Amino acid sequence: MRILLTRKLHDFAIKDLQKRYEVIIHRGKTPMPRKTLIEKIRNVDGLICFPYDIIDKEILESAEKLRVISTYSVGYDHIDLNSARKKSIKIGYTPEVLTNATADLTVGLMLDLMRRITEGDRLIRAGKWSQIFGAHDYVGVDLEGKTLGMLGMGRIGQAVVKRARGFGMTTKYHIRTRLSKIHEKRLGIEFVSFSELIKTSDVLSLHVPHTKQTHHIINLNSLQKMKKTAILINTARGKIINEKDLIRALKTKTIAGAALDVFEKEPIGKNHPMTKMQNVVLAPHIGSSSAETRAKMAQITVQNLVLGLHGKKMIYSVL
Ligand code: DGY
Repeated sequence: MRILLTRKLHDFAIKDLQKRYEVIIHRGKTPMPRKTLIEKIRNVDGLICFPYDIIDKEILESAEKLRVISTYSVGYDHIDLNSARKKSIKIGYTPEVLTNATADLTVGLMLDLMRRITEGDRLIRAGKWSQIFGAHDYVGVDLEGKTLGMLGMGRIGQAVVKRARGFGMTTKYHIRTRLSKIHEKRLGIEFVSFSELIKTSDVLSLHVPHTKQTHHIINLNSLQKMKKTAILINTARGKIINEKDLIRALKTKTIAGAALDVFEKEPIGKNHPMTKMQNVVLAPHIGSSSAETRAKMAQITVQNLVLGLHGKKMIYSVL
């Protein structure tokens, strides 16, 4: 069988694949160009892809033999599920193993923004740290006693809540399907409407997948309902936020700040308007990016592919 990797994975994963299959690897640092993907996917049985590879109807139609897609990510909004379903293509993904890493980053971004860590780092590097310990210099805000508003309460959301409890925060959440009361009690969280969530949160953190329903759910209208002191954290998907609206809200101090690991169009460059804003912390889509987590993801991505190609149940499957 022949498989296609749209980017290099860990050596152990590639060796494992090469023992079993003929492997085509795109070794470039930038994503495989769409034209090349259309051409290469034509004759492969399996595909390993990444969140930035857009596997849409046209790509899937050109895949004459494809039986399995294994994505190196928990998100699968880059794959057209309907077209894959029609062609009986199985899809594997990597949830659970990246829960803690992504929750850690979410809390890291929250701490960074609330205590102005990166802002202070920028100031020192610019040679602007002149006086020490001024009573009102570089003051941030405490996490203790603040309300964490969670849009979404899946695995990553719940891991964030556990961490936030350690900081003395209280959590409200909104999600399409409410958790059971027992589950809510165990996590110490309160279910509220979307409108109450955005109005009452000190920190609004996004943990929903990007779908038609969540596309631009955070827009000028919702941002204007937030507290002026509130901050927004996004480690989910960029397109959940209308970025133009967020930039406007940050410039006009409609909200106090934002910390983002994901963007509408990635990568963003140094001329992106948010790179000029002190009340914004930017990360280059590193939610799952710890050495341990990335290795586990590589292992599961390969296992999903192999199991799927051999007609067995994948460890984690979408289809
Ligand atoms: C994923 O795996 O989908 C996430 O974006 C990781 O950061």
